[in-house]
Amino acid sequence: RKNMVVAIDGYSSCGKSTLAKALAKTLDFIYIDSGAMYRAITLYFIRNQVDLNDFKAVDDALRSIELNFHSKDYESHITLNNDEVSEEIRLMHVSDKVSEVSAIKEVRLEMVKQQQRMGRSKNIVMDGRDIGTAVFPDAQVKFFMTADPGIRAQRRHKEMQDKGETQITLEEVFDSLAHRDYADTTRVESPLVRAEDAIVLDNTDLSPKEQLDFALTMVHRHM
Ligand code: C5P
Repeated sequence: RKNMVVAIDGYSSCGKSTLAKALAKTLDFIYIDSGAMYRAITLYFIRNQVDLNDFKAVDDALRSIELNFHSKDYESHITLNNDEVSEEIRLMHVSDKVSEVSAIKEVRLEMVKQQQRMGRSKNIVMDGRDIGTAVFPDAQVKFFMTADPGIRAQRRHKEMQDKGETQITLEEVFDSLAHRDYADTTRVESPLVRAEDAIVLDNTDLSPKEQLDFALTMVHRHM
């Protein structure tokens, strides 16, 4: 491929988007948060009470959803049928349902198609669960991120506290992440797995700056 694709996959809340945004900003690439797409679809399914076992209902829903990204300062803002949903998709009721929705084959097929279109001609950094394996198996650089589960829960809990979601305990956050990791790694359709050629980045003891420096070194080797 002529354009450059950096794929970042890994477990929930282990800093993928922080690294992806920093990389995109430094390299002047476009950042695409694939998880936001699955979250927005999930929000639509919740709002419209779509029965996940009803094939036709899921299909109809997918047809009536339009997702768009609006980039502001590398913070990806996403709209669901022109409605700005960037904040709502991060709330717990969406997080708790997203893995179930993203396991549906038709949902994945549609999302992968849209993601591949976004990466057809531009230089991009995309983060998610199957970017290096299913969406862009030919990405020039792939990272697989991981971190200690307890540390991840602490980071995520703090983020939620800072945003005012104060009623959720650390234990609930831990359980929610564990549940999502389990669902994402054991599903049938493109489960979360490290691509053979992905560089493992365990950031348990690394600062964002250290992660960025490491990732930039790897990217420059492939440019
Ligand atoms: O990255 P984020 O945590 O926002 O992703 C939310 C959920 O969306 C994941 O837990 C996973 O179930 C799903 N997802 C996926 N494939 C991707 C990105 C996200 O299945 N490429």
